[in-house]
Amino acid sequence: MTVFLVGAGPGDPDLITARGLKLLRSCDVLVYDRLVAPELVAEAPHGALAITRERFGQERVNELLVAYGAAGLNVVRLKGGDPFVFGRGGEEALALARAGVPFEVVPGVSALASVPAAAGIPLTHRGVSSQVTVVTGHAFDGGELDVDALASAPGTLVVFMGLAALPRLAAALVTAGRDAHTPAAVISRGTLPDQAVASGTLGEIADLAEGLPSPALVVIGEVVALAEELGIPEKRLRARVEAA
Ligand SMILES: C[S@@+](CC[C@H](N)C(=O)[O-])C[C@H]1O[C@@H](n2cnc3c(N)ncnc32)[C@H](O)[C@@H]1O
Repeated sequence: MTVFLVGAGPGDPDLITARGLKLLRSCDVLVYDRLVAPELVAEAPHGALAITRERFGQERVNELLVAYGAAGLNVVRLKGGDPFVFGRGGEEALALARAGVPFEVVPGVSALASVPAAAGIPLTHRGVSSQVTVVTGHAFDGGELDVDALASAPGTLVVFMGLAALPRLAAALVTAGRDAHTPAAVISRGTLPDQAVASGTLGEIADLAEGLPSPALVVIGEVVALAEELGIPEKRLRARVEAA
């Protein structure tokens, strides 16, 4: 028996991996994040113990995983996106490794590329962007980001958990020399039926995104301008309505 750190994907329940779904359907214990689709939680066997992670701090979650794993139960720790991308999956894996409890990481579809893709934004594009820089809004608020380096980094900038910091981050990037006319987008609840996209320039994106619900991903760079031509969001939403 093992503890499986499983990526649930970005929101749309169909975007979990086949292996993740198979493990979920046969677990004894499920520990899941708030962002995980309820449809996926419902896939756990009826007799399984389902625990929402929000009731506990990270230390307690680590202890639960170690305790249930050491007891020989089949444990699925279902995490939004990919477990190892801004998901504290590394901390859980370290706790299990240190306790000698066998575990396996089952990669998931991270919001990193899938959420922009669902909004028609390719993170890289030949001749437009060949570099991606990924940061968190929390790191900006914590003073951990070199804003001058970010402002001059070529290519695409992706900000996780960046909605609250967006007005200050966008202003700081412009002050540090990033062109205020750089295309920028905020994708809210990407891949879900109520996905919403605010799109404009870096100088105006904070105003345009005001009121959008989280989770949201910020994308800054010339690739954002490709979305209009690709027209994917409209097609995707229409396809969903037709299928319903
Ligand atoms: C704690 S991080 C978890 C990231 C996750 N491990 C991954 O690989 O996507 C949560 C942040 O991911 C982004 N995010 C996750 N799902 C999203 C979605 N469906 N639409 C937009 N952003 C999303 C948001 O920036 C959100 O605040």
